[in-house]
Amino acid sequence: MAKITITTAVVLIFFLLLELAGTYLASPLNCTDRKIYIRRLPIRYNKVLAVSCSRYSPLTINLCPYLHNSGLGPKVHDRFRSWHRTHHHLIEKFFHRRVQDYPCLIGDPKQANAIFLPYYIGLDSLRFLYGDGWNSSVQHGMDLFNYLLKNNAEIWRRNGGSDHFLISGRSSWDFSRPKMKLDWGTSFLELPEFFNVTVLTPESRRWSWQEQAIPYMTSFHPKNVAEFYKWVNMTEKMDRTSLMLFVKSSTDVDSSDEDVADILSQKILKECRTNSGLCTLVDCTGKKCEDEPKSYIHSLLHSKFCLHPPGISPTTRQIFDGIIAGCIPVFFDEMTSSFQYKWHLKFPEKNVDQQLLSTFSVFISEKDVVEETVTVLDVLTKIGEKEVNLMRKELKKRVFGVMYRSHKASPELKEMKDAFDLAIDGVFQRIKTRQNH
Ligand SMILES: *[C@@H]1O[C@H](CO)[C@@H](O)[C@H](O)[C@H]1NC(C)=O
Ligand SMILES: *[C@@H]1O[C@H](CO)[C@@H](O)[C@H](O)[C@H]1NC(C)=O
Ligand SMILES: *[C@@H]1O[C@H](CO)[C@@H](O)[C@H](O)[C@H]1NC(C)=O
Ligand SMILES: *[C@@H]1O[C@H](CO)[C@@H](O)[C@H](O)[C@H]1NC(C)=O
Repeated sequence: MAKITITTAVVLIFFLLLELAGTYLASPLNCTDRKIYIRRLPIRYNKVLAVSCSRYSPLTINLCPYLHNSGLGPKVHDRFRSWHRTHHHLIEKFFHRRVQDYPCLIGDPKQANAIFLPYYIGLDSLRFLYGDGWNSSVQHGMDLFNYLLKNNAEIWRRNGGSDHFLISGRSSWDFSRPKMKLDWGTSFLELPEFFNVTVLTPESRRWSWQEQAIPYMTSFHPKNVAEFYKWVNMTEKMDRTSLMLFVKSSTDVDSSDEDVADILSQKILKECRTNSGLCTLVDCTGKKCEDEPKSYIHSLLHSKFCLHPPGISPTTRQIFDGIIAGCIPVFFDEMTSSFQYKWHLKFPEKNVDQQLLSTFSVFISEKDVVEETVTVLDVLTKIGEKEVNLMRKELKKRVFGVMYRSHKASPELKEMKDAFDLAIDGVFQRIKTRQNH
């Protein structure tokens, strides 16, 4: 009798727990073909690098404050729950955290569809870029490679590394120094040892085999569906009194460099200054906009178009700040747009499609502006109000896919695919395609 009661109680508790799980867990992800194994690495490849965050300051800024909240950075203000002081180079720690929370993790590497390498490559590269490792920067990565082959080598050998992936907070240019050349950067992406590994990066090279560009982190990291929609709904209702906005992020813009990108930026700067009623100029030099995003975001919300000429490199985090604020991006170089974020901007289509891109962005040829056959103002004033509204609607559809929700998000929000989820989808797809070759 007692036995039956206990059994009944156990069964009851079991169903009760199931019920609870049902209310707290997002609808279960189908884990078939989506299993990730996190490779165990010594802490010198991640944790130690994170705690050494001030090591190269003042050569680089002190990164420590930005590593709070799993890499999202401290809150901007208690009242703005979704906004953080986020440093876009520090995605490595945050991404690692998100992989650790991924619902289809597996303990047996043999059953995994993808192997994540929790290596903070951008943080590690600081010793080569700013520290005493500069004269061995062509060796960057060899130590990790040797580790992977000396420990549980079968994990690597099974697919020659082609099922491995890692995340970089820094762009590919920082890792593609040719071995024989004395130049900026390390040679990680030039090492044949890592050719099979998928490297996610905020900016890829033009034709690359290893890396895929994924969005920069912005300051917006909502925790629930209401917070998210409250924000995007607001961006739609803004009174956008400024036609265009230009962010001055590098002090170089005022210099008299001969580089085409510099000439372009100078032309745009001049246009902006002479039409100050139509153009908002924002100063983001230093870390002003990351540290105090409020006034910068305010400007984005009041502008129709955001100009994104290539700066020190073709892409910037500001493209994504703008998209999130409903500011239609204006591109001048294909390297800023169609060569970069195809997993994130082009869905559902797989390939780069200029026509699709033009439904939510404007392209003005760099050459035309530099040679003064057009002005940015001319092109943008010709776009009618109706078309602008249509573009903003298209843009709004992409906001969730380019931002990184908080790792502490509600179950409902977790069901929507953010930039992290789309990156993981892309990784699986890519690994599968390569293995079928
Ligand atoms: C999960 O996905 C696999 C293939 O991707 C499919 O064959 C299977 O039917 C799916 N299972 C469920 C429960 O949806
Ligand atoms: C790198 O430079 C340091 C000091 O400048 C020197 O001691 C070391 O031998 C150099 N290493 C190589 C590989 O040249
Ligand atoms: C990369 O993959 C190819 C084909 O699978 C394999 O032959 C090669 O050994 C792999 N490279 C490394 C460094 O493991
Ligand atoms: C946002 O707008 C949608 C319709 O466009 C509406 O269904 C939703 O309730 C709004 N959400 C908030 C939080 O304002």
